[in-house]
Amino acid sequence: MAKLDQTKTPFFDKIRAYGVSGTTALDVPGHKLGSIDNEFTRYLGHNVFSMDANAPRGLDNLSKPKGVIKEAQALAADAFGADHAYFLINGTSQGIIAMIMTAVRAKEKIIIPRNVHKSAINGLILSGAMPIFMKPHMDSELGIANGIILSELRETIEEHPDAKAVFVINPTYFGVTSNLKEIVKLAHEYNMLVLCDEAHGSHFGFHDSLPLSAMEAGADMAACSIHKTIGSLTQSSMLITKGNRVDPNRVQSTLNVLQSTSPSSLLMASLDTARSYMAVNGKEKLDELIKMADETRKKINKIKGFKAITKEYIWNHKGYDYDETKIMVKVSDLGLTGFDAYNILSQESNIQMELAETHLILAVLSIGTTQQDLDKFVEGLKNLKKHKTDKEIRHKIRFTYPDSYTRPREAYHAPKKYVKLEDALNEVAAENIMVYPPGIPLVIPGEIINAEILEDLEFYTAQGSTILSDTEDGYIKVVDKDKWYKYEGDL
Ligand SMILES: Cc1ncc(COP(=O)(O)O)c(C=O)c1O
Repeated sequence: MAKLDQTKTPFFDKIRAYGVSGTTALDVPGHKLGSIDNEFTRYLGHNVFSMDANAPRGLDNLSKPKGVIKEAQALAADAFGADHAYFLINGTSQGIIAMIMTAVRAKEKIIIPRNVHKSAINGLILSGAMPIFMKPHMDSELGIANGIILSELRETIEEHPDAKAVFVINPTYFGVTSNLKEIVKLAHEYNMLVLCDEAHGSHFGFHDSLPLSAMEAGADMAACSIHKTIGSLTQSSMLITKGNRVDPNRVQSTLNVLQSTSPSSLLMASLDTARSYMAVNGKEKLDELIKMADETRKKINKIKGFKAITKEYIWNHKGYDYDETKIMVKVSDLGLTGFDAYNILSQESNIQMELAETHLILAVLSIGTTQQDLDKFVEGLKNLKKHKTDKEIRHKIRFTYPDSYTRPREAYHAPKKYVKLEDALNEVAAENIMVYPPGIPLVIPGEIINAEILEDLEFYTAQGSTILSDTEDGYIKVVDKDKWYKYEGDL
């Protein structure tokens, strides 16, 4: 697929050479390429710091690339089947916010599933866009939200033909995708952009038996967490675009609003090398991984009480496709919640799962996963069986989402007050509250807090989940309706 020489790593080569060039560093950063002998420098080693330089001459500038960053980004675009690639040093969160700010202005509509990551909600706050939320398909057996259904999207588009963009999660945290190719076709018929959250799908384009990548499906933009599934350093991601519906200048200027003027060269070098490795070796490595994952699912399904989710299961439950490099295991038939299983696997088998939900646990595999890791996982599950109980796991799934009172941006800027959670019923939220991971808000700014949200918060708190919000635990920031005023203009 790639046309350029993907063995090349221009940015990494240049920064590595700079690190050993003997340059007298009278610039920032203050560690002077590793000259401060502290515990951290000693532990990591000199090489790390020698490469942590801040855009000196010849090393290019992320906000206006003309040299090795431009070359490295062009190689990345080629590898991902995109026209343009932009290195992100603040994660896919930055890419998602940038996609929304690029595509939709204040008060313009964007069609978006309600089970999006908090960064998409933050994109709505920053852009001022009007969300037209779609309910994802709910899997009542697993208690999770999946993709969107094409016929429902068609109805939503026909109701809101003036929307500027459709936002798609490709795939969800759990690995489930929607029929992206048809979604793109439909959205483009109505002149709408298609923006993809590809945080968990950066590897899709490198193997034919994985779901279609955003670029393969013809989407306009995608934000990809290279750090999650391809192996660059945490926080390093890419925004990729294709076609002429998106103006590259507007994308760059939006990114420049959102990013540091001191981007980490370590993050960028790790993107450059991870891309090269994946482009050269990805197909073969993914081949091995997909086989290992498949064998592991079969082994797990032979242990009574566990159910490792297969592609066939997803197809039979209205999912379009499934990323088989994820292993989702239903544990609740053993009288254990996913949270119980997550803790026991950590405490007794030293296994760190990606996340737990009421009924299941999720393992995220990558080309760095070994057979040994998966054998250990199967052994860990066998050990878990000892903890079987007669408890009936409370069936926990919300089929509705809260009603909206106002746009997220308006609620964010409105006068506010802090109330105790138990007094918050029917108040309008002024902040995101979510369980992390997965980081999908239970309530977002502008939504009316209902009894189900309060119940969910109580439930997840009791399970020991991490609840993230901007406010002290037990309180919530809400709109002060007595002081409520409507903004004029394009807020
Ligand atoms: C579905 C989804 N989208 C976006 C993000 C944000 O990605 P990042 O952590 O790279 O900012 C995450 C992170 O967990 C995610 O799960």
